[in-house]
Amino acid sequence: KRNVIVSSPGKLIIGGEHAVVYGRRALVTSIGMRLYMQLTAEEQTNEPTSPVLKVSFQDTNQQHLIDLSNIQNSYPIEIQGILFVYNHFKSFVSDRSQLNIQVHSEIPIGAGLGSSAAFSVCLVGCFYLLYHKTLNREDINELSYKVECIFHGTPSGIDNTISTYGQSLVYSRAVKKHINFRLSNLAIIDTGIPKSTKRMVELVRLFVESNQQEGERILNDVERCVDSMIEHSEQIDQLFQENQQLLKCLGVSTLEIDNIIEILAKKNISAKITGAGGGGCLIALTSCFTKDQILDLLQDNHIKSIAFVECGVEGLRE
Ligand code: MEV
Repeated sequence: KRNVIVSSPGKLIIGGEHAVVYGRRALVTSIGMRLYMQLTAEEQTNEPTSPVLKVSFQDTNQQHLIDLSNIQNSYPIEIQGILFVYNHFKSFVSDRSQLNIQVHSEIPIGAGLGSSAAFSVCLVGCFYLLYHKTLNREDINELSYKVECIFHGTPSGIDNTISTYGQSLVYSRAVKKHINFRLSNLAIIDTGIPKSTKRMVELVRLFVESNQQEGERILNDVERCVDSMIEHSEQIDQLFQENQQLLKCLGVSTLEIDNIIEILAKKNISAKITGAGGGGCLIALTSCFTKDQILDLLQDNHIKSIAFVECGVEGLRE
């Protein structure tokens, strides 16, 4: 019996989400919420001998049992991701193998905090560690991007890259660069409104394709805003507001989100969407407010949770 355990962090996009899909620079940091995954390979002793895969999602109590010699095409999307990675490592797996995957996540699912990328990175990381005995970050990042494509269509790769490497990054499709970036008093406000990254990315694509000049202008303005966040962190409040306005122009805000941001603005709290938008999480700069005070301000907005998290943490690790 062989057994590996890995974990990798969730993320916050500080600025530049969506524009990063079009090659613009974005600023992203890893957060102190992690996804943990264990992969065990056991040799079965009883007949019949075809490889099987057991997956259990501990947080939702969901279990799946898959006969790997008879793969169907109607599995839930997470299982499709797992089978894609399994296929990649198939030649190492014997007919008698029973693979067991257990998943536990501190990162809320579908909230824009990178739970799916942490899942993809851990998944590839587990197989890598079990069959190649190392964690080669470059290879793992590349393959986990392909898993992310199964989940999200045409992602930029920012989520899997930050989850693999950790710390904070200035990321574009062409370049990734670690930077020292810290914000104190950054609150994550989970609106509790479900969102789909894939759908939001498609929505922006429709907008950009049907309003080309306007679209390009907004994408360039987002990148300028990100560059200013990096160079003039003292202006971060103003830059949060600007980035949020541009996200609104791209069509990824909602009336409910606008309403929350307006309530916070009245108390001089700057906030913006983080991640895909359409729901999910906001980030807010809250120097003089406690969690309870913010919850109080937003008591009519059905906020799911507010959290202060550590930023710039370690990436994929054993
Ligand atoms: C999702 O975390 C960030 C988006 O920019 C999509 C992507 O970059 O793939 C909305």
